[in-house]
This record gives sequence, structure tokens and C-alpha cells, in this order.
Amino acid sequence: MDLRARAGRAVSLLRYVTRTVRGLVQLPGFEGTRVTPRRWTNLVLNRWEHRSLRTTLRSYPIKLIVEVTNICNLRCPACFTGDEQQGRVRGHMSPELYARTLEELGPYLWRVEFCNWGEPLLGRHIVPMIEAATARGISTLISTNFSVPFDAGRAERLVASGLTILGVSLDGARQETYEQYRVRGDLETVLRNVRLVNDAKRKLGSKTPKLIWSFHVFSHNAGDVEQARARAAELDMEFAVEKGWVVGEEWDAGGRFDFYGNPRPFPCVPLWEWAVLNNDGGVAPCCGSFYREDDVGRVSAEAGDGGARTFREVWNGPALRRARGFYTRRDGDEAARRSICFDCPQTVIWERWLHHMGGGGLEQDFDPGFGQNDVFNYFWNRQKLHRPAGDAARAARR
Ligand SMILES: C[S@@+](CC[C@H](N)C(=O)[O-])C[C@H]1O[C@@H](n2cnc3c(N)ncnc32)[C@H](O)[C@@H]1O
Ligand code: SF4
Repeated sequence: MDLRARAGRAVSLLRYVTRTVRGLVQLPGFEGTRVTPRRWTNLVLNRWEHRSLRTTLRSYPIKLIVEVTNICNLRCPACFTGDEQQGRVRGHMSPELYARTLEELGPYLWRVEFCNWGEPLLGRHIVPMIEAATARGISTLISTNFSVPFDAGRAERLVASGLTILGVSLDGARQETYEQYRVRGDLETVLRNVRLVNDAKRKLGSKTPKLIWSFHVFSHNAGDVEQARARAAELDMEFAVEKGWVVGEEWDAGGRFDFYGNPRPFPCVPLWEWAVLNNDGGVAPCCGSFYREDDVGRVSAEAGDGGARTFREVWNGPALRRARGFYTRRDGDEAARRSICFDCPQTVIWERWLHHMGGGGLEQDFDPGFGQNDVFNYFWNRQKLHRPAGDAARAARR
């Protein structure tokens, strides 16, 4: 290896070490969390166990994603629920399951997010669930289509719950563009509901929830972005634009819009740092995973259903330990190879990265080989494995 190559390797290594140390100690960007010694200690331990690729963890997750309900009123075409795929039984999470999980994980959690693949504001128990997290000093977030029945009373209860962030998925500034993705949605209803929240915040003298207009841009609504930005400012909302994922080929690849986060070589964050709890007690390895067949375990939702008594049993259960192990060595028997994490782009990118760096490659020359749209399509295509008949029927209708 010549001097230039050695210097390049040393710089890559130094950058990696600096990033790792910074990643261990910096506070997570969750506003509104009460920092306690227990939360703090668990955070650093969790990150350490993540960076050192432990498979059995002493730490608990720092973020919990709760599928309050997997029911939705809209039909967004690139959403499993909007596309009417059946991942698991449709329904609401029981307050008892949520309370038990919060009791166990609450002292360690920095954030609870109340949405996965359904519409959280259709959840029957959403307000008391937020209140319980707030009472424990945990930052909370909802992402909603907000095209739902709502009134001043509900707005006041939502504000009073202490909700930290309310993200509103609003992909257009005109009904005719908005409804192309948010099928069945009504733009005026969404805007009226935002005003109700603003009124309630004023009435209760509350700074929260922070409102974010979340605009997913596609070819059909790209022309609305500036109008939407202006309306967001009028409504006292932050404005976030990100490229929308689509089934199949990425639209306008290399164009002016970008996805929220692009794949990079890093051991999968959800496998070590997040917990995804579905309405039926099924635990998913990450929020891309939709089918119950891809769950990594189950927390008991009702007596006699065979689920684990505690979340920790699943957290250190065989499926999650095996998935974490792929980041040290990606192999295994037939069952391991069929697991969703085995061929997941994140796992494959990490394996390629180790190969690249181990072979003397430079960090800046590394090509992950997957874009964010490919990652979405990887999860989307699990239906071919789990629901082949439904997939074929839908493809014929398109
Ligand atoms: C499946 S949704 C569930 C929450 C809620 N129903 C909503 O739509 O906001 C979870 C997140 O995925 C986002 N989402 C849906 N379709 C998307 C797409 N094609 N590209 C990027 N994000 C998308 C939603 O806007 C939301 O922030
Ligand atoms: S509103 Fe959310 S959950 Fe409902 S179909 Fe659209 S993206 Fe999916």
C-alpha cells in the first residue's frame, strides 16, 4: 500500500472513531424528554451494545413505536394499509397491553411514537395513552393524515395530553393534487383540524404540540411545494418536504428532491435501539415490516395467546438475537435466510461495507448499492412471500 493510500485509510479510520464516540455521548434529538439518571445510563449502554454488536442486551430500547390501531380511513397507494393488504388482524391495541409495556420500558424510553401502519387518531385509546407517556416524562409524537372527524373538544383533550409533536401528512396544496396520493382525504378537513389545534393551544396557553406539515413529494404534487410552504407558515406549522417512496422504480432519481435519510453503512438502528409493538402484541423488527409472519416475537395481548409475559423476553429472544448476529456474520439455516432481516438492504449494505473496508477500500469510494426507494420496495415485496394470491390479484387490477 503506498503512502497516499495509507493516509487515506488513516483518515477514514479517524473519521469513523470520531463519529462513533460522538454517537455514544450526544443527546438524542427528542424534545420534551425528562432526562433521568436511569434514562441516561441506559442510553449510553444501549448505544455501546449497538456499536459493539452485542446480540443479547442488558439495555432496553430508547424509542417505542406503538401501533395504536392498524385501521385507516384513507387509501394511500404506497402504504400497505392503504393498499388493503392484510398483515395481521385489524383492531385496536388494548389499554392493558400498552400499560404493561409502558410500565416495563417507560423508565428507559426517550420517545413514544404512536403510529406505524394505521391512523392513530382513529385509535380508541389514543389520548390516555399519550397522557400516560407524558406523565412519565417521555417525548411523544403522532403522525396523522388528519382527515378524520375532529372537533374543539377533541383538540383540547389532545393538547392537554401533553403531546410533543403532531406531524400532519399533507401531500398537496390543492384538493386535486392532494387526493392523488391521500385517496379519500379531504384537504379542507385537514386544514380545519389544524386550526382547531391552534385554537386549543391558544386557549390552554400551551406551546405543544409542535405542528409539522409533512409534505411527501411525488411527480403529481411537486408544483404545490411552495404554495404549501406558505400555507404552513400561515398556520404556524413547521414545513418538512421529503421525496415520497413509490412502488417500483424511484421517480425522478437524481432530481431536486431527496428522501428522509438515505441508506448508509451502519448496523440497523431499530434492531438495537427501538421497539415496534403492534396492536395484536406482535413485535416487528422495524417499522418497515408489515406482516405478522415477519414478527420477531409476541408480547401476550390476552390470557392464553402464547405471547411472552414481558417485552424483555422478546427483546433478547431467539429471533432478535439472530437478526443482530447477521451484523457479525450473515449466514444461517433455511429459517435464518427466510427471516426479513437476512436480505434486508441494511444488512446487505453492512456486509458489503465490511468487505469493502476489509479489502482496503476508502470510505468515500463505498457504494451502498441501494437507494431509499429500493429499501421501501424490499419491504413491499414481502407480500409476494406471505400473500402471493393477494399480490397477484392487486397487480392484475393496477
Ligand atoms: C403509514 S403512515 C401512518 C401514520 C398516518 N396514517 C399518516 O399517514 O401520517 C406512517 C408514515 O409514513 C408516511 N408515508 C406514507 N406514505 C409515504 C410515502 N409514499 N413516502 C414517504 N412517506 C410516506 C406517512 O406520511 C407517515 O408519516
Ligand atoms: S393515511 Fe397513513 S396509514 Fe392511512 S393509508 Fe395513508 S399512509 Fe397509510
